[in-house]
Amino acid sequence: MLVNAIEAKGLVKNYVTWDRRGFFKRKKRIVKALKGVSFNVIRGEVFGLLGPNGAGKTTTVKIITTLLLPDEGKATVMGYDVVSEAEKVREVIGVTLSVEKGFFWKLTGRENLKYFGMLRGLKGRELDRRVEEVLELVGLKELGASDKLYEEYSLGMKARLALARALLHDPPILILDEPTIGLDPMSARTIRELLVKLAREEDKTVLITTHNMFEAELICDHVAIINDGRIVAYGTIGELKRRAADRLAVEMIIAAPHTILGDLEARISKLIGIRELGLEPLEEGRARLRIVVKPGEEEVIIAKSIEAFYSNGIKVYQVRVHEPTLEDVFILLTKGSK
Ligand SMILES: Nc1ncnc2c1ncn2[C@@H]1O[C@H](COP(=O)(O)OP(=O)(O)O)[C@@H](O)[C@H]1O
Ligand SMILES: [Mg+2]
Repeated sequence: MLVNAIEAKGLVKNYVTWDRRGFFKRKKRIVKALKGVSFNVIRGEVFGLLGPNGAGKTTTVKIITTLLLPDEGKATVMGYDVVSEAEKVREVIGVTLSVEKGFFWKLTGRENLKYFGMLRGLKGRELDRRVEEVLELVGLKELGASDKLYEEYSLGMKARLALARALLHDPPILILDEPTIGLDPMSARTIRELLVKLAREEDKTVLITTHNMFEAELICDHVAIINDGRIVAYGTIGELKRRAADRLAVEMIIAAPHTILGDLEARISKLIGIRELGLEPLEEGRARLRIVVKPGEEEVIIAKSIEAFYSNGIKVYQVRVHEPTLEDVFILLTKGSK
């Protein structure tokens, strides 16, 4: 029996784009989206492909789901080659690339599923049975939403319907690009619980992409961190955390309007002479700054930071030092490499 449900080896993908230069001129630019991406997904697990925006997650997913051809490298799904056996691959995967794309706004959830079930070759009683099963499975029945028009669906319902559609032909593998992005916390939690249930109880293999470390920590058995077109780490959550075991995380809550966060990150990084930091917007114009440091360095960093903030008119509300979380490992691995 195959141990790996998905294997990617040395995937390379370049995009060609055209930058405008004046009115008539355009200049060709090559975007190196993937620079040799390799990883394996074990059968029956929830696997997370983690990375910041622009890292190459969607490109990887598109190649694995046969929507995009790699320039170099090879990928297989259940042993089928994504290029030469694309048809076979499509039979064994359920995919959602974007929660909202491709549904009919004037049809109900149930009608939408029937339509897509027919496209998958289901018909008659089997089609009806399967549609009811997936509606039940994703909780749309419980919400009384099966007969609601799609245009009346909340984003949470849309996410459930997208998952239901991916499950229609009962594929052994689910591949979901950012399945909880933009969802309210309750819906996101439901989707996450569902994915874990599908892996544990229905023996499905689930690959998700996310930039949400908290999410990965909650549901993923193994994760690969991708940054700038390369896999920079692979392991269980525990293994990755141990990589930062000789580190401490300094966390500061500061006053920072969201509009200036991008600038601010670069400025803070310069001010305190540290590259590995993360700045995340919070409510009410505040932001959380996280810095990963070696034990013993924290006092100097805190002192430097507070001084730098005050001399720049940035208020500091809170300072905390703690053991590294997956997010800290992520910062360590993705920020330092550029
Ligand atoms: N169709 C495209 N044309 C040109 N560049 C693209 C295209 N799609 C993605 N890219 C670029 O490729 C890189 C990887 O993108 P993507 O795979 O979408 O990353 P992610 O999903 O991790 O945010 C980014 O630099 C992005 O701007
Ligand atoms: Mg993406």
